Amino acid sequence: MFLGYLTSILLVSVYSAHAVGAAPAPDSRACSPPDGEAGAAFALTNAPDDNQVIAFSRSATGKLTQTGAYSTGGRGIGVDFDTQGGLQLSPDHKFLYAVSPADDKISVFAVDGSCLERVQVIYAGDQPLAVALKEDGSLAYVLDGSVASTGIFGFHVNSRTGRLTAINNATIPISTPIGVPGAVLFSPDGKSIAVTSKVGSLIDVFSIDDTGLATGPVSTIVSSGLRPFGAVYRDDGTLFVVESGLPVLTNTAVSTYRLDNATSTYLSALTRSEKNQQTDGCWIVLGGEDDEFAFTANFVSGTVSSYAVAVNGTVSLIDGEAAFTGEGSEPVDLAVTPDKAFLYNLLRGDGAIVGWKIEENGTLSSVGTFGAGQSLPKANGASGLAVF
Ligand SMILES: *[C@@H]1O[C@H](CO)[C@@H](O)[C@H](O)[C@H]1NC(C)=O
Ligand SMILES: *[C@@H]1O[C@H](CO)[C@@H](O)[C@H](O)[C@H]1NC(C)=O
Ligand SMILES: *[C@@H]1O[C@H](CO)[C@@H](O)[C@H](O)[C@H]1NC(C)=O
Ligand SMILES: *[C@@H]1O[C@H](CO)[C@@H](O)[C@H](O)[C@H]1NC(C)=O
Repeated sequence: MFLGYLTSILLVSVYSAHAVGAAPAPDSRACSPPDGEAGAAFALTNAPDDNQVIAFSRSATGKLTQTGAYSTGGRGIGVDFDTQGGLQLSPDHKFLYAVSPADDKISVFAVDGSCLERVQVIYAGDQPLAVALKEDGSLAYVLDGSVASTGIFGFHVNSRTGRLTAINNATIPISTPIGVPGAVLFSPDGKSIAVTSKVGSLIDVFSIDDTGLATGPVSTIVSSGLRPFGAVYRDDGTLFVVESGLPVLTNTAVSTYRLDNATSTYLSALTRSEKNQQTDGCWIVLGGEDDEFAFTANFVSGTVSSYAVAVNGTVSLIDGEAAFTGEGSEPVDLAVTPDKAFLYNLLRGDGAIVGWKIEENGTLSSVGTFGAGQSLPKANGASGLAVF
């Protein structure tokens, strides 16, 4: 986001207590998931005084109920992270990783349904803004976004406890220090990491050696469109990137790339900037049983767009306004359930989470809006969403 960021700077000075109506923060022993819990959703307040994870129980029909608020032990920045992935579940959803950019930390929680127990808070470089986890759960890389030190910072992950150990305790720079990165992600085979740069309109690829250490960038490509932001890999190595397109209005688009199979380090363009006529799309996920759809959240328009994803990795727009989230709702992070049947969107402007069932034809059927007036701050920087 860009416009949102400016708005947030204005709002941060009037930051007010966000915890009005908050559920009491239960400790892990006191927490018992409600009956019929099918999964959980977590969102991050990003509050500057005490950055908290707000936990929701998720029912089989997709409804969310707030069950707790857990301190990360770190501080947020109160303005949007301006990244995708500030809150990440491990692939087996046993652990949850949350960034606290104001004090350079990442927090690790053990997950038991919608109940959390904080197990670690650790230094993660200058202003951590997003987290990538390797599919086998063995490595984590954090995206550091400060102007002084923009790059990726790696950790080994203990598979039993979820705890992190820094690999070299250093930030490995991306190709341009003023690129303003938007997303960090492991390739499906875990051999490389891609980083988008919004201002630079570049995508860097780092290779990962046997010890887990990243080197590079080993390749840098110019994005097909302006301001590549959020991104997601399909299992076959197709990369889907949403371009916010700013400063041009109604310029949001999705581009796709294929990662070469031999070295996992070179991206070549497939679809180039398939537009959706929306403004400031920044987040993207895949959904539907076989990932046959892609969805983008468009911050300024207050919409979610749907795309059809072809087996060959190309995309075509289905509906620019597959869902309207409301004037001033400021849709930010998107997340899909592991079965790819439900889509959720954090509404920064409303301090709420909206959910949809993904129908077989890609249309979105609302399951409701949750958490408004509870612990998520309204129009005050909430960033990061994870669901299972
Ligand atoms: C990592 O670097 C930070 C910042 O320089 C320092 O405070 C910390 O002690 C280092 N950790 C280790 C394990 O060396
Ligand atoms: C590349 O490898 C993936 C995963 O093994 C496979 O699904 C895909 O078909 C391969 N693509 C090509 C073009 O060979
Ligand atoms: C990819 O698949 C789509 C949908 O089947 C098709 O329209 C398109 O021509 C294909 N593109 C390429 C480059 O094969
Ligand atoms: C898509 O599926 C839903 C649910 O079955 C249905 O209500 C809707 O009319 C369908 N839309 C189109 C365009 O086929």
